[in-house]
Amino acid sequence: MTSTTEQIAAGQAAYTKRTLSVYDIVVLGISNRFIWRCPSSEILRYYDECVSGNHLDVGVGTGYFLDHCQFPSQSPRVALMDLNANSLEFASHRISRYSPETYRQNILEPIATDIPKFESVGVNYLLHCLPGSIAEKAVLFDHLHPLMNPGATLFGSTILHNGVRKNRAAVRLMKFYNRKGIFSNSGDDLKSLEQSLHEHLDDISVRVVGCVALFSGRLQQARPRPEQ
Ligand SMILES: C[S@@+](CC[C@H](N)C(=O)[O-])C[C@H]1O[C@@H](n2cnc3c(N)ncnc32)[C@H](O)[C@@H]1O
Repeated sequence: MTSTTEQIAAGQAAYTKRTLSVYDIVVLGISNRFIWRCPSSEILRYYDECVSGNHLDVGVGTGYFLDHCQFPSQSPRVALMDLNANSLEFASHRISRYSPETYRQNILEPIATDIPKFESVGVNYLLHCLPGSIAEKAVLFDHLHPLMNPGATLFGSTILHNGVRKNRAAVRLMKFYNRKGIFSNSGDDLKSLEQSLHEHLDDISVRVVGCVALFSGRLQQARPRPEQ
């Protein structure tokens, strides 16, 4: 099934100024620890391992992890990309000390702008918001490849629906979020995630904590921009 404009819009529409103001407490504080059973400290550690001094973050939300992670340089280049203007504004304000670049972009569409390339790209908690199967969502890797230097790392995490142990609250909340279109992960499982990562990246690492898959891989070869 091809994703509709409505489904794509629903995946980002929840991020209003109001929801962003409580996101860190509700999602990163409560849901991650007690419902998805992957504490945010685990994700932050992953950022610390993978982030570079020349970093693009896609699907930025409140920018919590960018605010708290340890960049390997004092003055990193940080770029933010999101379809939602509220998320871009919230996150860029939060990390204004890094003078971030901002790009408003639907990641399911090719990236037209000529942007200097990055050493790391973060796609944290983005895949489960995107409509379609994992194989369809994986088009984002094609769109991001031209923005990555050879050897650059792509990393992130996503909440899986199938093949992970879910407590009762997780079953209910995932169902609710999928019904509202906030999540579109009812077909997402570990095997298809691994397969898509292998098709697009090298040196893949995938680890499951609770309902969350933390993943990373490297771009080994410069790949041409797809035909626009
Ligand atoms: C769950 S939040 C993740 C926030 C942050 N990365 C974190 O882990 O705390 C998802 C973000 O992805 C953005 N988003 C959803 N669909 C998108 C799309 N098609 N293209 C770009 N960004 C999108 C939303 O606007 C939101 O900022």
